[in-house]
Amino acid sequence: MHNKIADILQNSVLNKDDLIILLSADKENSELIFKKAAEIKSKCVGNFTYFRGLIELSNICSKNCLYCGIRNSNKEVERYVVSDEEIFNSVQYALDRDWGSVVIQSGERMDTNFINKVEYLIKKISQMGEKQPGITLSLGEQKIDTFKRWFDAGATRYLLRIESSNPKLFAQIHPQDKLHNYEKRIENLYNLQKLGYMTGTGVMIGLPFQTIEDLADDLLFMKKLDIDMVGMGPYIEHENTPLYQYKDLLLPVEERYFLSLKMIAVLRILMRDVNIASATALQAINPDGREEGIRVGANVIMPNITPLHYHKSYNLYKGKPDIIPETDNYIKNLEKQIALAGDTVGYGEKGDPKHFFKRTLGN
Ligand code: 5AD
Ligand code: SF4
Repeated sequence: MHNKIADILQNSVLNKDDLIILLSADKENSELIFKKAAEIKSKCVGNFTYFRGLIELSNICSKNCLYCGIRNSNKEVERYVVSDEEIFNSVQYALDRDWGSVVIQSGERMDTNFINKVEYLIKKISQMGEKQPGITLSLGEQKIDTFKRWFDAGATRYLLRIESSNPKLFAQIHPQDKLHNYEKRIENLYNLQKLGYMTGTGVMIGLPFQTIEDLADDLLFMKKLDIDMVGMGPYIEHENTPLYQYKDLLLPVEERYFLSLKMIAVLRILMRDVNIASATALQAINPDGREEGIRVGANVIMPNITPLHYHKSYNLYKGKPDIIPETDNYIKNLEKQIALAGDTVGYGEKGDPKHFFKRTLGN
């Protein structure tokens, strides 16, 4: 029988209509997409999964994104900042296990204290270990001077999700003020690239009001921006947020999960040599979610190494695996699952996105 999906997967260039058809594939046809994505991953970035130790530095946030559980107006959240000593211990945990990189994530703050603290932490972490660890930041929008200071201190990668590349949908999921501005977010992404950061972005999948067409545009947006790294996962509603009122408009969680896997696979086919993280939000829906992401094209997993007593306070969404037992046992099991998905863990390597070197050096 003639199969349209199989035909599209033969094409070397995918247009928006192709992307829409791929993203609309049913379970059976999706396996064709997943297989193609796995082939491209193997050819372009190799069968490796890189671990990044994720440290959720603080849940204090000056923003009020309508979907996020730690938004400024949610007074139910107990706010914290991880102490410097605990951060260094967490980094040491990652280094002891030969993970090449750490990610520092936090709610968004632009005050001088915060900027100074982060700069200090980056400098200290850069001096830890025999090989300098890769440092990725995920600290929201900042002034270009701040990005520069952190880059000069030793951070090389930055993740800043666009959340949705459709300006109308972006406006529907954010408050209407200067702090939450679509054009500004894009300007930030360009600034990061200009400064020499390996630059990552991403979107949420299955948002209220979002269409398959929007998701196809999201993928084309990432391609157009020539992004090096992507982290994207299912939207999961949180009770204490304004967007919760639209919960009845949402796809069932299993479908949001399945759609997220298709987004990962199609992005791998479209952009080939970028780094793609298998998001924690996948794991919130399916305990094996992150490993499944690896099977369909992702090549990065960010085990949470924030000290356990803070986990309960970093609930971006409902059911975020709040006590993730990132113990040695758990990591062993994760390794087994990664092996089942056909990958080896890239120990002792930074695992920089190959796409970055092509983009900046032309090789
Ligand atoms: N569901 C899924 N992801 C969420 N994030 C924030 N709130 C949610 C939610 N309810 C994601 C955003 C943000 C990242 C830190 O967490 O994409 O960029
Ligand atoms: Fe703050 Fe980020 Fe949550 Fe927005 S998504 S409220 S910036 S932590």
